[in-house]
Amino acid sequence: MSAKKITKAVIPAAGLGTRMLPISRAVPKEMLPIVDRPAISYLVEECAKSGITDVLIVTSRSKTMIEDYFDYSLEYEQKLLSSGRGNEIDDLRRAAKLCNIHYIRQIETKGLGHAISFARTFVGGDPFVVLYGDDIIFSEKPVVKQLIDVYDRYELPVVGVKEVPIELVMKYDSLKTEPLEKDIYKVLTMIEKPRRDQIYSQFAILGRVLLTPDVFDIIDSLPPGAGGEIQLTDAMKIMAETGGMTAVDFEGTRYDMGSKLGFLKANTEQALKDPALGGEYMAYLKDLVSKL
Ligand code: UTP
Repeated sequence: MSAKKITKAVIPAAGLGTRMLPISRAVPKEMLPIVDRPAISYLVEECAKSGITDVLIVTSRSKTMIEDYFDYSLEYEQKLLSSGRGNEIDDLRRAAKLCNIHYIRQIETKGLGHAISFARTFVGGDPFVVLYGDDIIFSEKPVVKQLIDVYDRYELPVVGVKEVPIELVMKYDSLKTEPLEKDIYKVLTMIEKPRRDQIYSQFAILGRVLLTPDVFDIIDSLPPGAGGEIQLTDAMKIMAETGGMTAVDFEGTRYDMGSKLGFLKANTEQALKDPALGGEYMAYLKDLVSKL
């Protein structure tokens, strides 16, 4: 029997984003721009390119602008038409047509695991992908597709990992793994926000996981973990230790849009790749750097 086809994704985007204060009081960090598009649109694009048809975005109060972005904007279309720029309308409409987008409110922000628990009805009995709303990854092959390909082979939950510096491991999580084949590992266990003496390895989960629906009962049984929040890592630790889990050291560069430095780096690198901006921006940066 072949593995179930994966067509659903969940993007938790309800967090307060305190590391991005003061802007996050008025603009959700998932809506911060990378050049001229909000971060979250890169995530939905990654889903569409990976064969996902339905995306659930978990939102919260003051995040309504996310819904507005994935919609047609008739005032702008009218304006473009009347000024002879009608050919730009298709590009504006693209975001609304990438996938079916569904929304649900996480009524209280009690952690990433708690946010995912709101996806139970949407997911039903299917395996699904989670893209953390503030983690942007630029890659040749979409990372969601890289995870799906590993799932198709092992039929187990998959986490996307990279080796990161110790200081970051302590802020994220640490995995105990065993190699299976090139860039693919079996996950034995994991720990959220370890102290230095609790670190298993420098492999940490970065922004993409593929889960099976048994995660929901596990989340519901969890007590609050690190920071008093319901942690998805605590649920995934149980899954790894009981049913089995794989990890893929994915190809791609990840930017943490929830941090000011990550936001600046994503913008600089994407601007340099932009056909219309790249040349002039490069010249500007070189000049700037030469004067430092
Ligand atoms: P983070 O831990 O980076 O989000 O969660 P945060 O709590 O908003 O960040 P800081 O530390 O205060 O700056 C990763 C993703 O999970 C979502 C966030 O929106 C982000 O996209 N999240 C987090 C939720 O949807 N709900 C939560 O309760 C927590």
